[in-house]
Parts: sequence; structure tokens; C-alpha cells
Amino acid sequence: MQYRLLGRSGLAVSQLCLGTMTFGNTTSESDSIEMIDRFFERGGNFVDTANVYVSGRSEEIVGKAIKDRRSEVVLATKVRFPTADHPNGVGVSRKHIMDCVEASLKRLQTDYIDLYQVHVWDHATPIEETIRALDDLVTTGKVRYIGCSNFFAWQLMKSLACSDANRYVRFISVQPQYSLVSREMDREMMSLCLEENVGVIPWAPLGGGFLTGRYTREEPTYGRLTTKMGESSWGVRGTERNFSILSAVLEAAKELEKTPAQVSLSWLLQREGITSPIFGASTLEQFEDNMGAIGWNMPEPVWNRLNEASSLPSEYPNRFIAKFARPF
Ligand SMILES: NC(=O)c1ccc[n+]([C@@H]2O[C@H](COP(=O)([O-])OP(=O)(O)OC[C@H]3O[C@@H](n4cnc5c(N)ncnc54)[C@H](OP(=O)(O)O)[C@@H]3O)[C@@H](O)[C@H]2O)c1
Repeated sequence: MQYRLLGRSGLAVSQLCLGTMTFGNTTSESDSIEMIDRFFERGGNFVDTANVYVSGRSEEIVGKAIKDRRSEVVLATKVRFPTADHPNGVGVSRKHIMDCVEASLKRLQTDYIDLYQVHVWDHATPIEETIRALDDLVTTGKVRYIGCSNFFAWQLMKSLACSDANRYVRFISVQPQYSLVSREMDREMMSLCLEENVGVIPWAPLGGGFLTGRYTREEPTYGRLTTKMGESSWGVRGTERNFSILSAVLEAAKELEKTPAQVSLSWLLQREGITSPIFGASTLEQFEDNMGAIGWNMPEPVWNRLNEASSLPSEYPNRFIAKFARPF
């Protein structure tokens, strides 16, 4: 296992982060705890959860699993989605953040969170209020670093500017969806992260299972992709474009004698600007497969082929700039 610093910070995280969204749902409590144990045995130290995953069960299971090794763990969780059915039970106002952090700390059986992330931008709350509240949590020691997730590039830049202008703590990381079948952040977010040294910890690096090669063109009757709504629904994943990307993955897997999941994760691990993909596994077998993504390097020609097969179509203003602009 290799370690990388998360953005503009001294926080060392493993090159893979274990996602826990299935814990207490499709992954039983005992398998979840076994998965965390195995992850730590292999040198993993970075675990991601959220207050709303499985209505708090994920945080409870993670808390139980890491209790005896707390200082080794880089524990990431999130705040923003509804937690109560009243007007202040949602968002990243000072009030909701302060309520949620206490509830997360209790479920996680700890007195600090290493990385506290804003799950999605909140249009109702001024960003100054959010960052000030997060800054207070860092000052009081309940939170060590802050990050954000699912932001547009302008939202991240506005947040960083707010931190800098007021000398508040900065977001050190962003958690976007990013994989061979979801490269939207290549438009603007990736260059901003490189410019501002913000760590990138992508979610759904396997496209919710699509990139493991387990699905054919038939609408599935099993697995995550039977979900009717959301990013890992069949309508989003099962497109012709995604099947053509998948065939490049299957070809690379055959050539390299690796599994499609390992190839898909390895492509991300070797991509500039990516700190630590957050992978999910519903079973211990899937976990073992995915851990086989580390300890080897994908040859450059194969990496380039996958990169080309999955690139976004050329768009303005990049298309314009590439044709006419020159550095000076
Ligand atoms: N910030 C956000 O808004 C956000 C959103 C989503 C997720 N996340 C985070 O990112 C983590 C990962 O997200 P994700 O679960 O969508 O990512 P993913 O790694 O793309 O998909 C994981 C799912 O794919 C299937 N799978 C995984 N490995 C497999 C293998 N080797 N062979 C066959 N199938 C395999 C399993 O689904 P089956 O159940 O079908 O077997 C598994 O639950 C989450 O746990 C969470 O921590 C964050």
C-alpha cells in the first residue's frame, strides 16, 4: 500500500479508501467489520462514511470496527442531507452542522472526525456561515480537516476564497463521482484541484459495479444497477457509450491478466490529481478482487487506450483554446 498527502495538508492517506455505504445494508455487520479488519491488515488507513448512510447504521458499524485502532484511522464522514423533518433538519447551516457533528461522533464512538465533508452545496446557507462553523469545529478539536463533495468548480473556488479572505480553514479535498464512465469533472474541477492543490477522492470508481464486467446489455435483475434512480441506475450506466468503454476495459483486463475491476481502479490510481479512489464492495470476495488493483502498474500504452476510450468529447472552450491559443 502506498500513502499520499491529502491536498494541501500533512494528512497521509492510503492510495485506496474503503467506502462503507453498503454497511448494514447489502453488507452484513460481521462482513463489514471483517472487511475493515482486512483493509487495515493490508495497510489501508482511510475509511469514508456519511451520517445518512443506511440511516446512521454505516457510521455505527464503522465506529465499532475502528474503536481499538482509532489513532491509525483517517475517518471521513459527511453532513448536509436531511436528518430530521423540520426546517433546520437539513443543509449546512451552523445549527444543522453542530447538531449533526454531535450525532456522528456518538454513532462513531469517537471524540473527533478526521475529515468532515459537506456532502452537497447548500443554496440556502451563505458559504461564510458554513465555513465559519466548520472552522470552529476544527478549533475545538471535534474535526481535524474539512472537505466537500459533489461541488461544481465555482462552488469550490468560492469556498476557498472565503477561507482565504477570512483566515478560516480550507477544504483540503473534494469527493466527486469520477471513473472511466463518469469523467465530468475533467471539464473544470480537475484543473482547479491541481491549481489549488485540493485532494481528489472519487466515489463510484467502479461505476457502482458496471465496470466490473458483471453486466451485459440485458437490463439486470440483480445487483446495485437494478436501482431505479440515481447515478448507479441502469438508465445512467447501461448506455452504448459506457458499453464501448467497458469493452476497452475487458480487452485490457484480458491482456494484463487482471480483472476488469482491478483495471478500472488502476486507471484511476495512475491518473494525475487523484489521491485515493473510494471503492465499495458488497461482499468480501468483491473486496479481495478490488484490493488486487494495487501493487502493480498499468503499462502506459494500455493506460492511454483506456484514457482515449473514456475521454469526454471535445467541447468549447477547450476546443477553441486548443486550436488557437498559445502560452505566450
Ligand atoms: N459523496 C457522495 O455523494 C457519494 C455517493 C456515493 C458513494 N460515495 C462513497 O463512495 C463509496 C463507493 O461508492 P459506490 O459503492 O457507488 O462505488 P463502486 O465501487 O463504484 O461500486 C461498488 C459496488 O459495485 C459492486 N462491486 C464492487 N466490486 C465488485 C467486484 N469486484 N465484482 C463485482 N461487483 C462489484 C457492488 O455492488 P453489488 O451490491 O451490486 O454487488 C458494490 O457495492 C461509498 O461506499 C461511499 O463511501 C459517496
